[in-house]
Amino acid sequence: AFNLKGRNFLKLLDFTPKEIEYLIELAADLKKLKYAGIKPRNLEGKNVALIFEKPSTRTRCAFVVAAVDEGAHPEYLGKDDIQLGKKESVKDTARVLGRMFDGIEFRGFSHETVEELGAYAGVPVWNGLTDKFHPTQILADFLTIKEHKGYLKGIKFAYVGDGRNNMANSLMIGAAKMGMDFRIVAPESLFPEEELVEESKKIAAETGAKLTFTSSVDEGVAGADVVYTDVWVSMGEEDQFEERINLLKAYQVNAEMMSKADSSALFMHCLPAFHDRETLVGEDVYQKYGMDALEVTDEVFEGPQSVVFDEAENRMHTIKAIMVATLGNQ
Ligand code: CP
Ligand code: NVA
Repeated sequence: AFNLKGRNFLKLLDFTPKEIEYLIELAADLKKLKYAGIKPRNLEGKNVALIFEKPSTRTRCAFVVAAVDEGAHPEYLGKDDIQLGKKESVKDTARVLGRMFDGIEFRGFSHETVEELGAYAGVPVWNGLTDKFHPTQILADFLTIKEHKGYLKGIKFAYVGDGRNNMANSLMIGAAKMGMDFRIVAPESLFPEEELVEESKKIAAETGAKLTFTSSVDEGVAGADVVYTDVWVSMGEEDQFEERINLLKAYQVNAEMMSKADSSALFMHCLPAFHDRETLVGEDVYQKYGMDALEVTDEVFEGPQSVVFDEAENRMHTIKAIMVATLGNQ
């Protein structure tokens, strides 16, 4: 019933709720096959290019393992390896890579770059994170919620922290599409940009989703099924660390905050996370702010409600589903 062959995967706005549901279910199926030791090799003979302007652990490894599991060859192209943006335009790079590869992943700064690659490559282009959106992460997060809670529609989802970054943006769109009760819990200056809020509200009006924007932790986290946070400074924003700590220290996810949520609430984080001294090594700010510099305490991160490593694993299964759905041999 679903044919996503040849489609790009650039942002969730481009997909219907049914298509998103389908990708999550396909990922669950592919996960079962992998656990059973069955490798269907849906991408046999394909070559995929993986462009990374920014560093990555999960996304890079998920694309590589998923490609190899399905019989494809992944080629990693780091920021200093190709001419992109230095000697060669995005448009030309897209057309060259599209002549050689069957699919292209891009992680980088500007969202326009991935849209331009998608417009000119002639093969499926997948967004591995831009400053605006991180759509593959959302599929992994929603699969994780389905595994633990059994459903998505009506899930009370509190996103706490930087409400203007790629994670907040993509979660808001995804939650609106899937009919969730979604709350952005952040200082007002870090609420998502108005245009995206308006778009999300339109989607919510059709799906029955509820969207709340509040600076009150009590209101936003009350009864939540999921408490989600992300780093306070995203890649490329490192000079804002001090300002963000001051804005966000009241939004740290700690045991006290978790006690306001439902007693069986999940703690989620896309990772990487600042949760203890070790993760802050090299950051002078820790000397000054100590525990206040962490977006989540070690107690919560390591505690029984945390499903962060399920999310990390699910990056691989969901990215595999995206590649198989848009590029598979069947
Ligand atoms: N969550 C995520 O995208 O992790 P990486 O930056 O390590 O890919
Ligand atoms: N908001 C974070 C997400 C990392 C996966 C960043 O862009 O750095």
